[in-house]
Amino acid sequence: MRFDQAAIREIHARTDIASFIAQYVPLRKRGNDLVGLCPFHNEKTPSFHVHPDRGFFKCFGCGVAGDVISFVQRREGVPFGEAVRLLAARAGVQLEPETPQAARMRSERETIFEANRLAAAFFVRTLSSDVGKTARAYLQRRSLSAQTVQRFGLGYAPSAWDALVRELEGNAIDLRIAAKAGLVKPKESGGFYDFYRDRLMIPTYSTTGEVIAFGGRALGDAEPKYLNTATTPVYTKGRHLFALNVARRAAQREAAFIVVEGYLDCIALHQAGFENAVASLGTSFTQEQASELRKYAEHAFLCFDGDAAGSAAATKAVEIASKVLEHAGSSVRVVLLPPGADPDSYVREHGSQGFRALLESAKPAIEFRLDPEIDRLRDGFSSPAAIARKAEELIRAMTPREEWDRWRVYVAGRLKVNPDDLRNSRFLTNRANFSPRTDVAGSRYTPVRPAARGAVEPRSFEREIISIIFEEPALAHEFAQRIHPSNLRNEEYRRIYERILNDAARDTTSAEVLTLFAQDAAALRVLAAEGSRDRSSSARFGGSEERRALLERIVERIEHEEVERRYRELRSRIDEAFTAGEPISDELRKESEMLVSKLRK
Ligand code: UTP
Ligand code: MN
Repeated sequence: MRFDQAAIREIHARTDIASFIAQYVPLRKRGNDLVGLCPFHNEKTPSFHVHPDRGFFKCFGCGVAGDVISFVQRREGVPFGEAVRLLAARAGVQLEPETPQAARMRSERETIFEANRLAAAFFVRTLSSDVGKTARAYLQRRSLSAQTVQRFGLGYAPSAWDALVRELEGNAIDLRIAAKAGLVKPKESGGFYDFYRDRLMIPTYSTTGEVIAFGGRALGDAEPKYLNTATTPVYTKGRHLFALNVARRAAQREAAFIVVEGYLDCIALHQAGFENAVASLGTSFTQEQASELRKYAEHAFLCFDGDAAGSAAATKAVEIASKVLEHAGSSVRVVLLPPGADPDSYVREHGSQGFRALLESAKPAIEFRLDPEIDRLRDGFSSPAAIARKAEELIRAMTPREEWDRWRVYVAGRLKVNPDDLRNSRFLTNRANFSPRTDVAGSRYTPVRPAARGAVEPRSFEREIISIIFEEPALAHEFAQRIHPSNLRNEEYRRIYERILNDAARDTTSAEVLTLFAQDAAALRVLAAEGSRDRSSSARFGGSEERRALLERIVERIEHEEVERRYRELRSRIDEAFTAGEPISDELRKESEMLVSKLRK
């Protein structure tokens, strides 16, 4: 949207930057400037300056600078247009001249906002009243804390036909407009009745703070499970995201959103500390929603149920999200939950750490799209030349041109062929040119063969470990006490890890690591694939500190798994004792409690 330059000048003229910023940051006068602690980075001595006469701020610590509009953008995490609108509203600046029709529309929209606001407040009051008892019990059953209920403004629509109708009437709301808001429905006999009855009410807010829609969840088995606001003058299905208003700041901080499908999935994640979660709500993830997210963060984790419907939805969503997000350093990753779980149940069962581990195992979108195709190729019966050609086609179709080389290494690694064969595949005929040859290390090049049966796929953290210590072997020594080879389940990865640990000196370079494996074609392929995977991940390639931090998280995950394993073991001993009618020792009980409290953390 374009703004009139005159309006922007007017905003600057009417807004005193010093007193505006002072609402957020305590400022003290120093010379002509005002100084305070920078709100955009951590500091103990003030280096954040505001120049009231020149209308801008600058932090000499972190270098951030700008005018009052960019201050609002950063501080509130909103795009330019929104910052302008907020400031214009505050300063009483009219952004565009309104036509009479626009004025009518505005007043209708405003009435809808007002009706929604009143309805939301009414639902909240009803939840804590006598009739809200079953709804409160329901929330408790779903382990939602009072704080969460308040944070999301959850409420209860009573089981009456005219409770909200009367509330709105009492506040002089035109019920025809309340009907346009989807709150009430016209009766055939004239008059209106409540649309939501006996439901847990979940409001959706716009990023500017208005209530724009509701989801009403049945407390029992009433159908449908969720009753949602349809399209209204202030809400278009598929354009907005649930919880974006509260998630965007955390998303900016972490440079990523977590996208889930359900209201309560999203709420449960927030309660567990994942404040960058949003929900796509009832529809599949849309391009508009992806663009909305793109305003605040470059990366997105898309979480889907692990069943067939979930992975079909994931495939579609990845397609859409990739169009909007997968460029210029932004990335989409896919998390498939185990069958039968949704984010809500998963985080309740496995805790925040468990869910964090799940995020860490997320597959980059390109891999998510390539992998099933690679599997199909690998399990098919094509000739090696045809496989190479098809693999090359896939890469050209699915990955950006400037990344073809690294995806060739990845795909070739999974197909167990030589990456060069993909690049040259157009010149390969079905029989010729495919004689055995030697690869980088001088070992014999092995033609395509099916993956070894019974081999355990490396888990993503195993791949992370290998790619990190390949990049920086010294870290293997640093973590040797905490990451044991037996923590890697995949034999090949375990072997590589052990070998680097035993044979690489602290100052070994990646190139020297390769020579350790000169005779080991399988290991070389793993290293080539891991070494070239995902260059955009700053965690892996950002620097030593980031790599170390990532290893720390992996250690946490390994420790968590270990606690889980011990707990399961203990449980089964307790169960055995219990069924045998034997007493359960205090010791067992204590250890079990200790483990549970660790798992909860
Ligand atoms: P699910 O059926 O997976 O439910 O719908 P859920 O999110 O796990 O909900 P709970 O935990 O049973 O309460 C996922 C999402 O699809 C939309 C809602 O947004 C829901 O959160 N949905 C589902 C509807 O809009 N209408 C429905 O009838 C069902
Ligand atoms: Mn659920």
